[in-house]
Amino acid sequence: MPTFSLPASPTFQALEQQLQQARTWQVRDLFKQDSGRFDALSFEGAGLFVDFSKNIIDRHTLYLLCDLARDADLSTKRDAMFAGDKINQTEHRAVLHTALRRPAGDHLHVDDQNVIADVQAVLDRMSSFAERVRSGDWQGHDGRAITDIVNIGIGGSYLGPKMTCQALRPFAHPRLKTHFVSNVDGHDLAALLPQLDAATTLFIIASKTFTTSETMTNAQSARAWFLRNAPESELARHFVAVSTQTDLVTQFGIDAANMFPFWDWVGGRYSVWSAIGLSLMLSIGSEQFKAFLAGAHAMDRHFQTAPLESNLPVLMGLIGIWNRNFLGSDSISIAPYHQDLALFPGYLQQLEMESNGKRVHTDGTTVEVATCPVIWGDTGTNGQHAYFQLLHQGTDVMPVDFIAALKPSHTLPHHQERLLANCFAQSEAFMRGKSADEVRSEMRAQGIAESQIEQLVAHRTFPGNRPSTTILLDSLTPATLGALIALYEHKVFVQGVIWGLNSFDQWGVELGKVLAKNIESELTGAPHPDRHDGSTNGLIARARNAAGKTA
Ligand code: F6P
Repeated sequence: MPTFSLPASPTFQALEQQLQQARTWQVRDLFKQDSGRFDALSFEGAGLFVDFSKNIIDRHTLYLLCDLARDADLSTKRDAMFAGDKINQTEHRAVLHTALRRPAGDHLHVDDQNVIADVQAVLDRMSSFAERVRSGDWQGHDGRAITDIVNIGIGGSYLGPKMTCQALRPFAHPRLKTHFVSNVDGHDLAALLPQLDAATTLFIIASKTFTTSETMTNAQSARAWFLRNAPESELARHFVAVSTQTDLVTQFGIDAANMFPFWDWVGGRYSVWSAIGLSLMLSIGSEQFKAFLAGAHAMDRHFQTAPLESNLPVLMGLIGIWNRNFLGSDSISIAPYHQDLALFPGYLQQLEMESNGKRVHTDGTTVEVATCPVIWGDTGTNGQHAYFQLLHQGTDVMPVDFIAALKPSHTLPHHQERLLANCFAQSEAFMRGKSADEVRSEMRAQGIAESQIEQLVAHRTFPGNRPSTTILLDSLTPATLGALIALYEHKVFVQGVIWGLNSFDQWGVELGKVLAKNIESELTGAPHPDRHDGSTNGLIARARNAAGKTA
């Protein structure tokens, strides 16, 4: 299939013309002109409600963007992903995280293997292990039940498990505390170890490749710590692995019986649905974990079957293209108005930026347009008291994704109404702004002198017309969280198709890994100034001096 080029597509010119009009729009006026705007530009699917109406679009913009998706043959490419075609061409792999959440009894053959049966077999093993740990039947070496789970992994083997465990903490087993160690910086593990009792701790070494330097370093240190506190014969009760690499796992000293496998067709940043989610399953139990998978599957079905014009991931992806490539925004702020989703912006950073932070098409030619924007953010209302100033009045226009749950999982009075009021008020303020005339009349009504008004009016004016999307969940549950993550996964897919990228490789992380290996050998052994520039040599020399090494 030829690579799609956005500027060469038949609909590009029509979208450029639409842009000329859109530059004259004030979204607040569009609401006045069209009383049906909210209903026409909000959509539901898989238990989520998404309001796109505060974006700088109209119905015709969406119509043209859907044409763009048709130009790019989005539906065919989507179907190829779900069917297990090897769409990750640079690694010759299928992309089948969606198979991880398909119901038992389904069939999908990849290389003559029914992958759904394989997935279900691992899920069954994970479930019985998780239930043994949760019930206390799986005991530590002195006969006590496990109290602490430590997931050692990084990137996709860390961000998804940690984010979901925090998001679903109301569902957590009361005895089990989950911890996550990712950073090769020893401060991470060193701060945790004194809190643990080796006899009641279970380590999960989570690494697809089982070669990632950060994870292996932490795993070896955790193993050494354990062996200082318990006999080697007890290692099997306290260390399990999640990986695709049986040989490396057994070489590390973990029994193959305590390894939960997955497959090369699961990308790291799409792996929380696989055995990489073991820490989540231990925390919330296998039934809730299955509800999490079912929520994602509901979004998969929506993505596969809903018409483009009302398809949530399609519209979210396309409006993102509109904001990025036509209106020129270069970042998106993610604002979850739910404390339990505090780690969601960080999770999306890997999902979106490792997937679409690329500059060549699938055929190796250079992309002609800007690709993935910067993804960043923090919870509302915390962000409001930190960086929202810039979002309201800064020189750059940055779209915001607001995410909120209508019903809380706590029972404290007043908080929820205040939280939602803030969420809705922010999107209203971004869109509506406040004109100089509005500022003047407000200040006059307060009896402020004209001279003072004129001094302050520019400072107190808000330009408005700043786009945002609001995603509403009924409440944050395993099912709605699954649907929410899958919504963003498929949004990333849609954008990758429009930009003509391979969203499923990550060659950009390789160079630094190789250079770090060289430099590490020079920090521990002899320096090689011939290998580096002046700056890098200078930094290496300072580190060697600090460690008492001679030049
Ligand atoms: O370096 C990036 C990366 O390959 C991510 O894509 C991945 O999620 C992470 O490293 C961890 O990899 P692994 O699970 O193989 O340790």
